[in-house]
Parts: sequence; C-alpha cells; structure tokens
Amino acid sequence: MSVAAILDSMDYGPAPESATEARAWLAKHAKGFGLFVDGRWTAPGRNDSFAAIDPATGRELGRVAQASAADVDRAVKAARKAQGPWAKLGGHGRARYLYALARLVQKHARLLAVVETLDNGKPIRETRDIDIPLVVRHFYHHAGWAELLASEFPNFAPVGVVGQIIPWNFPLLMLAWKIAPALAAGNTVVLKPAEDTSLSALLFAEIAAEAGLPAGVLNIVTGAGEVGEAIVRHADVDKIAFTGSTEVGRLIRQATAGTSKKLTLELGGKSPFIVFDDADLDGATEGVVDAIWFNQGQVCCAGSRLLVQESVAEALYDKIRRRMASLRVGDPLDKCTDIGAIVSPRQRERIAGLVKKGVDEGAVLWQANIAMPANGCFFPPTLLTNVEPASTLAQVEIFGPVLSAMTFRTPEEAVMLANNTRYGLAASVWSENINLALDIAPKLKAGVVWVNCTNQFDASVGFGGYRESGFGREGGREGLYEYLRPLPFPAKRKLPKIKSTKSRSLIQPALPAVDRTAKLYVGGKQVRPDGGYSREIVGANGRVLGLVGEGNRKDIRNAVEAARKNDAWTKASAHGRAQVLYYLAENLSARADEFASRLGSMTGPSSAEAAIEVDATIRRLFYYAAWADKFDGAVHQPPLRGLALAMNEPLGVIGIACPDIDPLLSFVSLWAPALAMGNRVVAIPSERHPLIATDFYQLLDTSDVPAGALNIVTGARDGLAEVLALHDDVDAVWYFGAGLEGAKKVELASAGNLKRIWVDRGAGRDWYSDTSGRGAEFLRQATQIKNIWIPYGE
Ligand code: NAI
Repeated sequence: MSVAAILDSMDYGPAPESATEARAWLAKHAKGFGLFVDGRWTAPGRNDSFAAIDPATGRELGRVAQASAADVDRAVKAARKAQGPWAKLGGHGRARYLYALARLVQKHARLLAVVETLDNGKPIRETRDIDIPLVVRHFYHHAGWAELLASEFPNFAPVGVVGQIIPWNFPLLMLAWKIAPALAAGNTVVLKPAEDTSLSALLFAEIAAEAGLPAGVLNIVTGAGEVGEAIVRHADVDKIAFTGSTEVGRLIRQATAGTSKKLTLELGGKSPFIVFDDADLDGATEGVVDAIWFNQGQVCCAGSRLLVQESVAEALYDKIRRRMASLRVGDPLDKCTDIGAIVSPRQRERIAGLVKKGVDEGAVLWQANIAMPANGCFFPPTLLTNVEPASTLAQVEIFGPVLSAMTFRTPEEAVMLANNTRYGLAASVWSENINLALDIAPKLKAGVVWVNCTNQFDASVGFGGYRESGFGREGGREGLYEYLRPLPFPAKRKLPKIKSTKSRSLIQPALPAVDRTAKLYVGGKQVRPDGGYSREIVGANGRVLGLVGEGNRKDIRNAVEAARKNDAWTKASAHGRAQVLYYLAENLSARADEFASRLGSMTGPSSAEAAIEVDATIRRLFYYAAWADKFDGAVHQPPLRGLALAMNEPLGVIGIACPDIDPLLSFVSLWAPALAMGNRVVAIPSERHPLIATDFYQLLDTSDVPAGALNIVTGARDGLAEVLALHDDVDAVWYFGAGLEGAKKVELASAGNLKRIWVDRGAGRDWYSDTSGRGAEFLRQATQIKNIWIPYGE
C-alpha cells in the first residue's frame, strides 16, 4: 500500500511483536515441561503429558506434564516441610523475596507477555500493558504487606499450606493474586494453573528459582481438573483458594465441608453496565469496549449486561455498533489487535451455543462486518438487543465477546434489573450526575462498582463477589485476612472478678416447674411453632424448668421471610442502630438480677458467676453499640486519577446457631455484631439453655428493635442450622455448634447458593475474653467489602 493510500484510509499496518525470545524459551523445553516441586523440576509420576496449544493458530507450543495424585502429595509434603522456616523467616525476610519476584517479573516482562499471548490468545497490548504490570504491582504491594505483617496483623498466624487453583483467562495475573498474599502471610503454596494455559506459571516457577525462593515454598503442579481435585481433597492442605466456574466452586465447597480447610472462592459473574440518560455516551461506548471486549469478554467481571435508559438506548446502540465496526480481530501478537483468540475450541463452541440459544429465545443479533481470521479460534464481537430479563442471555455467564442489552426507565428499575441475577461480582454505573451514581452504587449487589469506568484493578483494592460470585477478597488488607488465622485462644476461660456480689447457689431445689411454653420470636411477634410441638428444658438441678417451641423447617422459612421483608433495620442509620443496642443494654441492666437468677437455675453457677455473665452481656451490647458507627471502610488511592471507596456493607440475612456454653453471653455476643453492622438475623439459641434467649423477647419488645431485625427459633440446633444453610434467601450462616458433624452439614448445605459460612469448629471460645469473645473478627464476618471506584478529572 502506498503512503498516500495509507494517509487516505488511516488504516493500521501490521505491527507484530517479536516472538523470537519466547520461541527460544519454548524450544529449550521442547522435550516437555516438568512439575516444579520442592524447588526442583521433576517428571510426573505417570510420565503423562498434554499439549499446550496456541489458540490463534491451533499449533502446539509444548508438552505439559499431567500430574497425578502422588505428585500432588509430593508437592504438599514439600510445602509442609518448607512452611515453618518460611514463616520463621519473618516479614522482612519474606518481603525481600516478594520484592525480588516483582523485580524479576519486570525484568522478564516482555518474555512473559509474549508467552502469555501465545498460550492464551489474548492481545499482546493487554498482556504487555495490563496483565504483567498488574502482576508486578501485586508483588510489590505484597512485599509491603509482608514487611508490615507483624505490626498490622498482631494475633494472627499463617494458615499453613495453601492449595490454589486458577483459571485460564488471566493465567499469570491470577497466579500473582494467589501467590503474593499467601507468601507474604507466611504460607507455602501448591498451585495448579488451568490446563489450557500452564506456560506462564511454568516460566514464573523458573523466575522463582532465579529469585532463590527457598525450596518447597512454591510448588507448581500442572494438569486437568482431577489434579485440582487432588489438591482440594488432600488432608494436609489447610486452605483452598479457587478462581473459576461457579459449578466447580460448588464442588469444592462440598469437598471441603467439615474438613476445617479455609476456603475462598472467586467465581463467575453477569455484571451489569448501567448507562443513565445523562451519561457521556461516547465515554460509555469506550467503557463498553473495555467492559466486554477486553480479553475477548473472558473476564469474570465483564460488563456483559448492558442496561441503558430507554431514552438514549438507540443512540447508544448506534455508537456501539459504529465502534464495533472499527474493532480489529486477529493475530494476538499484533500490537494493533483489539480482540484476540478465544482460549479453546470448547469455549468457542460454548459461546456460539449460548448466542444461538439467545437468538432462538428472541434476541436480535448484530455483528459488525469486519475481517475475521480464516483460521484459529476466534469469535466476532457481538451485540444482542431485545433481551428479556429472564432469558439465557441475561442470566447465564457467556464468557465471550458478547454483550446482551436491555433497557430501563427509572433508576429503581435499573437497580432491580441489575440485581436480577444470582451473581454479584461487579457493576459499572455511567452518569454525569455524581449524586445519582453514588446513590445507585450502594444499592447494587456487587463486590466492586465502577463509576464512569470499568475493569479497573489494583493490588490495594480488594476484589471479590457477593452471592454466587463467591466469597473472600483478593488484594488489599482484606485479602491478607484470607491467608491468616487467629492465634489459638487461651484453652481455659477466665471469669472476670467482681467483688460486690455475694456467692450463693442460685439453684433453688424448691423451684416449681414453669408450665409456660416459650414461643418463637418471628417478625417482632411471639409465635407458636408450626409443628405444634415443644421440648422440655431441664435446669441445673435436673428438674424441668419450662418448655420451648420445637422449631421446624417452616418456622425457619417464616423467620427468614420476616428478616428479608423487614429492611427497616438495615436502612436505619448506624447511629440509630447503636441507640437500640444501648437501649437493650439499659433494659437488660434494669433486669440484671432477674436474668442472673434465671441463668443460675438453668446452668447452675453461683450467683456471682451468673451476675458476671449478665454484666459481661451488658458490656458486650455496649461494645457493639460503640462499634455500630465506627467500623468504617477505607479510601484507597490506587494508581489512577481517582479513589476507591471501600465500604463495609452488611451481608443481608445471617443465620446464627449459638453454643451451649455461657448461653446468654454467647447468644448476645453473636447477634449483636451482626445487628450492629445492619444485618437481620435468625438466631438459634443454645439448644440446652434456650430459655434465657426466650426471656429476651420482652427486652426486644421494649427496646425499639424493629420487627424482623432479630428472629429467634428454638429447637434442635444442628437440624435448624442445616435448614438455614440450605435456604437460598440466607446470605451467611455462623455455626457455633458442638462438633464437626454439624459444621459439615452446614457447609455442605451452603453449596446451593454458596453463602458465606463461619464455623467455630467446636474449638470453643472464651466468651468473656476481649480477644476471643468479641472484636473485629466478628465485625468482619458481619460485613462484606464493596469497593466503589470513582475516577475524577475531565
Ligand atoms: P473451571 O472452573 O472448570 O476451571 C477452572 C480451574 O479449575 C482449572 O484450573 C481447572 O482445571 C480446575 N478444576 C476443574 N475441575 C475441578 C475440580 N473438580 N476440582 C478442582 N479444580 C478443578 O472452568 P472452565 O471449564 O475452564 O470454564 C467454564 C466456564 O467457567 C467459563 O465459560 C466461565 O463461564 C467460567 N469461568 C469463570 C472464571 C472466572 O474468572 N470466574 C474463569 C474461568 C472460567
């Protein structure tokens, strides 16, 4: 083409990135890659391998080892051996290694970018300018956390050996998101990359060796899903961190149930991209490009659902169509390519199948008439309009360059449509009216909200989902907690001393049995149990103290419905919630003697001990009243012109199964933080001593607690807790029951909607203690962090 013709058309010429170095690296490994275990390259036990394929050409890049369960076992053993010394090295020592990793990734940036592009098919512009720089940033940022760990996370220890399973869409970036916090916190790692994209992880293993990372600290085993499963099921792995499909996330939840393994899941999404009529439509159009055509749309937080205000819908669609016509699909190694290859034929077929289904369901398809490569695994950028909210295109994660568009009329409708999904990973809001954008952001059920931008990531800003998008955060301070565990609590509980109370037994042998049957407390009212059964409650002296309602599945359903329906508590100000908790404390204080006496008859302590428990409960209410308006979020300053507001939001409805020990104090210590943070609660009080909870009804009635904020269902704890865990409208369950069996049931049952579970694992706590009986751990469990990104400047 002549220069004149080029000037005329302003078309791009080819600008291929050189793959010479990457191909030389591949040639060095032409005989096949090994597994990186205990600091050495080893052959897989079964001597089995599979091909790494370049999806843009279909050509084989190399042979990757297929690990066996025995290989996983070797890797776990190596990690276990290395963990103690790695933790003992201390924060500064580990910071040096993480810093070295950051430096070396920088040094090998171009090689890593090209290898990633060859293996995954994503455009070099993205690997070079986004993936690798974010990897580097992650290691630097976490070198900082390692340095600060001891002072910023006192009373925490590393979890131990961590199994990490990552997907193929951001192979090296996901590796960095997993490895950097794990190592910073003093854990050792067994990581499995996705079978479609193992190469950058193997190159990273070489870099780790170059950095002199001690043997066994990082182990990389390659292979298909069964290798992931072997890691998940390995008895000596203390934590699993997984990113991938919701289906596999659910399997992992089930496989780890009852095992004491810590778990974080970062799963799929169907994120809304909401455009209001006052948005800058040109800006929004570029936003759409970044939201759904970045990485071929193979992004868990891709803005795959365009929700546009009706009055500007056609104008925006026109702009998007025009922009689509200028997108360049082709050779991922060409620096002018916008859209590269889909990772595998399997994924391409899946995308095509879902698009066809959408069209069959009535959506209108539009694809630009642009040049498509003749060979390789490509899919054209696609816009689908006329999409119904309940249709496949609006509900199912497509994981491809496919945008499903719908319209709305009012902001309320936009929020309703946006939240009409089982997922909750991210959302993007476009409006020039900051008041509107910041009003909408907290109403969206998503872990990340981008205002007038999209797909922004930074190591300092936690990333993770609500609902079936998983739980746990990656990045930032909150990401570190996922790789730490609280130091063991003191074995014995120590009662605080109070001097004034005379010590006498509160067990009154002559006490007549109470013939009253305590009811359940649902929606602010005392209600009879659905089944019409009650259970006898025996006191400390062996005599029947009274009867409580035997709650069943239906009662739990009613309680959850009452909690879900009555959102006055969640909408109340933090100050207002504090006032109610103080008021409860005040009313309990007024009846302290009566409660102490009841406690005495139930559990049989001396009057001094019972009075101590009541006093500690009053203090606990004060403590969480104090926190209600102070557990603030943070303002992050990621490297962009703007801010990210990290907000602590309530989870919604939390089910809480309480222990038998210290039945008044533990009961209040569990629901008070949940309420303080604005959740609504369905509590199952101590199974043995529920009467102290039912006595509480009158306090709730007289302390301005809104109906539905706290619901109490008495009965068989484990059975009721399981029903709570099975319930799709419950957002989290805290299980403080007796043994591992109950915990296992709850964790298994939670796999349905992947709700967050907090299990005490029968370890027992000292509820009186200021470190184990109360504190930030409870508040963190009662909240989830939403990060709202707000860029500024014109
Ligand atoms: P996947 O969930 O099967 O794969 C992710 C990782 O999990 C891979 O390393 C895989 O080997 C491993 N794995 C598979 N089965 C396992 C098991 N039973 N136990 C432990 N590990 C296991 O995802 P896949 O099949 O590659 O993609 C299917 C769909 O999943 C995509 O179309 C997309 O919708 C979603 N996905 C979401 C991702 C995200 O970032 N949230 C990433 C990749 C896929």
